[in-house]
Amino acid sequence: MKSRRALLYMPGDSRPKIEKAISLGVDCICMDMEDATAYNRKGKAREVIAKALQELGFGHAEKLIRINGFGTGFEADDLSATLIHHPDGVVIPKVEMLAQLEWLSEQIEAMELSQGWELNSIRILAGIESAKGFINLKEIATHPRLDALIFGAEDYAASIGATRSRGGLEILYARSKILLHAAANDLQAIDIVFVNFKDVVNLKIDALQGAQMGFTGKQIIHPNQVAPVQEAFSPSDKEIDYAERLLGAFEIAEAEGAGVIDFEGKMIDMPLIKSARQIIERAKAAGKI
Ligand code: COA
Ligand code: MG
Repeated sequence: MKSRRALLYMPGDSRPKIEKAISLGVDCICMDMEDATAYNRKGKAREVIAKALQELGFGHAEKLIRINGFGTGFEADDLSATLIHHPDGVVIPKVEMLAQLEWLSEQIEAMELSQGWELNSIRILAGIESAKGFINLKEIATHPRLDALIFGAEDYAASIGATRSRGGLEILYARSKILLHAAANDLQAIDIVFVNFKDVVNLKIDALQGAQMGFTGKQIIHPNQVAPVQEAFSPSDKEIDYAERLLGAFEIAEAEGAGVIDFEGKMIDMPLIKSARQIIERAKAAGKI
């Protein structure tokens, strides 16, 4: 699966911001038709995104579109204006039922078939950000076209009547639930937006906390956030070095028939081997090895 350490949103009606995003070396560029686009600019955003997809080279960045949620009345037009220009994936916000992903997947599949594109090449990333979305997450997370679950903390807090706090206790249950369902279905888990985009010190703390919890990436909203977030979601040189040495030692021990080893004074068995392998995978995906 593609590395999605940072997923940068920008208003879909802003060609300058889309162009700026391409210059930043960010993993994912998400051109938004939903909340970053005013009601009277939805049509403009569709036009700008369609042109951007046709005219701009996105380099190594993944090009994503975010459509309006199912039932808003905008979602079908968002898709029909942009899908034909082959984004790499579609972010659908406020998902509350598996049937909504089935609807989206059918639209995408019809386009893939009619254009002769590889089937299932356009992926879905689902925003889970309401009480109902969390209640139905077990089914939602099983959709075969899904690559990632995205946690929308602000909408979720509004949906349950919580007030956001610095400590974030009010979102801890939902944040953890995203991780469990992502892990159980081999999906990426993409963490909350840190909205104070001028505060890079606390952004780093928030991003590292998400990475430690098990998130694979984070949503971002400003160029200042690209480097700190991608750094936080890349394994450090120290972690990579440790993982490589550990896997080397384990390989030798395994050949000799040992399932558990003493590595530099620490007991190492399968769970730690698995996490060392994950570090190597993530380091490769991030281009660090
Ligand atoms: N993507 C790409 N470029 C961006 C950007 C973004 N999300 N946010 C800011 N920039 C650009 C600006 O256009 C500006 O470019 P310039 O120097 O070439 O003129 C530069 O980065 C500095 O921006 P700055 O002046 O600090 O911010 P701003 O006042 O232009 O914008 C926001 C502030 C919050 C309006 C803007 O960051 C934004 O729109 N973020 C995305 C919001 C969003 O998509 N929300 C929905 C998902 S939660
Ligand atoms: Mg939202």
